[in-house]
Amino acid sequence: MIKTINWKNNTVVLIDQNALPSAEKYITCKFYKEVISAIKDLTVRGAPAIGVAAAMGAALGALQLPSLPPEQFRRKFITICDEIAQSRPTARNLFWALEQMKKCLDGAICSGKRDLAKELVNEAKSICLEDIEINRQLGKHGSPLIADGDNILTHCNAGALATAGYGTALGVIRAAHEQGKKLHVYVDETRPILQGARLTAWELQKENIPFTLITDNMAGFLMRQGKIDKVIVGADRIAANGDTANKIGTYSLAVLAQAHRIAFYVAAPLSTIDVSLKTGAAIPIEERKGEEVTHFRGVLSAPKGTKVYNPAFDVTEAKYIGAIITEKGILKKPYHVTIARMYKGEKCS
Ligand code: MRU
Repeated sequence: MIKTINWKNNTVVLIDQNALPSAEKYITCKFYKEVISAIKDLTVRGAPAIGVAAAMGAALGALQLPSLPPEQFRRKFITICDEIAQSRPTARNLFWALEQMKKCLDGAICSGKRDLAKELVNEAKSICLEDIEINRQLGKHGSPLIADGDNILTHCNAGALATAGYGTALGVIRAAHEQGKKLHVYVDETRPILQGARLTAWELQKENIPFTLITDNMAGFLMRQGKIDKVIVGADRIAANGDTANKIGTYSLAVLAQAHRIAFYVAAPLSTIDVSLKTGAAIPIEERKGEEVTHFRGVLSAPKGTKVYNPAFDVTEAKYIGAIITEKGILKKPYHVTIARMYKGEKCS
């Protein structure tokens, strides 16, 4: 299994996603500030993986705090969490994981635990392990949506690399493949930084799942040619009404899929849903540096000084989404109702 992120001897070991696919190398973070840099520069990326990294980064920060009375320890720990929270704005999982860590600390203080850092390390490790199990469950719920012989289009990387393991959108594909269904995946290269070409293609090749790489602007033509049966993508943040932020280009795929009557699915853990936001209009969209667009793997590909707009995510309105696949089951429209029901603990279909 791909080891995206691992807690080892009080360090955080990350597969360097910027080096893939040319090299499989790992970086070791000893300090929480190194984890912040790794999140910012996309060494670790993908919403659930960012969440796990944030939790582990916070645990590293806690380990480095001197021994202090609980309230002072708490204040310093919250400052560390606030700093980690500044690393990337869009993925809900990052904020969710930091909230889990703060809850863990409060619980540990209330129950008079002496070694608070140890409690936080254990919490970060269990967030990591739970993420893998969540993805397996999500795969189990989503795989019946995939038929034998399907050609599936996916965008960006929502695989093992984007999570602690197994993946969300790729987890559904992986589960269907494990059940013996014959599948073929079309992989959008995902401009500007090629998470599809570099990461999704790398994962599918390792798993022997048949795939074909296309550039993002080819998807409509392939749909028109009848080459695509389904689209499955991951998510960075889902609002209470089902509007979904995911890698830039996802919205165009959703509109194209509707125009061609192709099912469009989102696969994401519940930790990606942000019920505090009524609609996707409130989701903060990260804007990244222009060089990602003007340069191709470090080589200038536009005239020097070219003005760039580089939003890293877009929002797909709920009306385009056929189902949201979660670890607790499949959510259908109207999402403002099914999401609210899910948060009240009722089961979905
Ligand atoms: O900028 P990135 O690579 O972190 O963006 C990742 C995505 O948009 C993924 O599709 C999303 O996080 C889902 S990952 C399971």
